[in-house]
Amino acid sequence: MSEDIKKGLLGIVVDETEVSKVMPEINSLTYRGYAAQDLCAACRFEEVAYLILNKDLPNSIQLKKFEKEEKDHRELSKNLYEIIKHMPKKSHPMDVARTAVSVMGLEDKETSNSSPEANMRKALRIFAKTPTALAAFYRIRKGKKIIKPKKDLTFAENFFYMCFGKVPQREIVKAFDVSLILYAEHSFNVSTFTARTITSSLSDIHGAITGAIASLKGPLHGGANEEVMHMMRKIKKPENALKWINNALKNKEVVMGFGHRVYKSGDSRVPTMREYFGKVAKIKKDRTFEKIYDIVEKVMIKKKNIYPNVDYPTGPTYHLMGFDTDFFTPIFVISRITGWSAHIMEQHAANKLIRPLASYKGNKHRKVMQLNQR
Ligand code: CMC
Repeated sequence: MSEDIKKGLLGIVVDETEVSKVMPEINSLTYRGYAAQDLCAACRFEEVAYLILNKDLPNSIQLKKFEKEEKDHRELSKNLYEIIKHMPKKSHPMDVARTAVSVMGLEDKETSNSSPEANMRKALRIFAKTPTALAAFYRIRKGKKIIKPKKDLTFAENFFYMCFGKVPQREIVKAFDVSLILYAEHSFNVSTFTARTITSSLSDIHGAITGAIASLKGPLHGGANEEVMHMMRKIKKPENALKWINNALKNKEVVMGFGHRVYKSGDSRVPTMREYFGKVAKIKKDRTFEKIYDIVEKVMIKKKNIYPNVDYPTGPTYHLMGFDTDFFTPIFVISRITGWSAHIMEQHAANKLIRPLASYKGNKHRKVMQLNQR
C-alpha cells in the first residue's frame, strides 16, 4: 500500500466542529464544552438534546418550549403506522428505524428546504417521531396493540411506556436517561461522518439520518452493544467467563464492547454507565452479567491493555431493563439523532463537498471488444 494512504482515515483531520470533543486535559468527552458525565449528574436527556442542537443549555422557559414541541411531534401519520404494521416481523429494528425516517422524509412538507430554520424544525420532528416508530414495531412484532405516545411523560418515560405499557421506577428511568446522554454525540465517528458526507452534496436531513442509521447498525459501531449481549449470553454464568475470554484471546477474536479509535486508555463514558448498570442490576436482583462483566474486563485490560467502550455496560443494562437485544442499537439511534442533526446543520453552515481520492490499483487501459469477440 502506498505510503500516503490513510486507510480508515486514521488520524486525518477532515473538518472543524463545535459540537463535541474528547478533551485530554479532563480526560473526558465534552458536548459544547460540558463533560458528558457532569451532564448526566445534572440534567435530563431533553436538556442535553437542546444543548447539542442549540449550542447551549436551556433555561427553564427554553426547555419548556423545546419539550412541548417534542411532545407535539411524537405522533406518527396513519400512513407510517400502516407501513410499520406491514413490515416483515423478522426485520431488524435498525432497518425499521432507517425505513421509518426515510418515510418521514417522504411525508415532511419541508424535505427540500435545507435552511437552518427548516433543518432545526425537521431535526426536532425526526427526534420526536423515531421512538414512536420503533416502539410501534416493538409491539407489532410481538402481536401486541400499538401504544400511542403520551404527552405527560418525559422522553425516556414515554419510550418505556410505548414499549411496555408502563413506566418503570425512577432509578431505571434515570439509568436509561443517562445512557441516552452518553450516546448523544461523539464527533466524527462513522455514522456522523456518513451523515456529513451525505449532507455535503447538499442532500436533505432525512436522507443524511437514514444513511447514518445504516452506518450505526454495523457491529464495529453501534451494533456492538447487541454483540456484547450475545457474548454475555454465550458465557452464560460467571464461572465460565475466565475460560471463555482466555479462549477468545487465544483464537484472536475481537471482543465486542472493547477498544476504541479515539480512547486508547479508557472510554470516559464507561465509569458513569458502569455505575448505573450496577444500580439496575441491584434493583433487578440479578448480578450474573455484572460478575461476567468484571471478569472479562479484568482479563482484557491485563492481557491486551484494551479497555471497555460505552457499549460494554449499556448492553447488559438494556437487557436487565427488559428490552429485546436487537433494540439496543435502535435506542442508540433515538439518542444520536441529536448529534447527527447538529453535525448536519454544521456541515450545511460551512459546506465543502466531501470527495476524497483513491490510489488506483486496477487494470491498465484496455480496449473494449465487441460482445461476439469476447
Ligand atoms: N478485541 C480484541 N482485540 C482488539 C479489540 C477488541 N475489541 N479492539 C482492538 N483490538 C486489537 C486489534 O486486534 C489490533 O491488534 P493488532 O495490532 O495485533 O492487529 C489492535 O487492538 C488495534 O485495533 P484496531 O482494530 O486496529 O483499532 P481501530 O481503532 O481500528 O478499531 C474498534 C477500533 C472499535 C473498531 C475495535 O476496537 C473493535 O473492533 N472493537 C470491538 C467492536 C466495538 O466494541 N465497537 C464499539 C466502538 S465504541 C462505540 C461506538 O462507536 O459505537
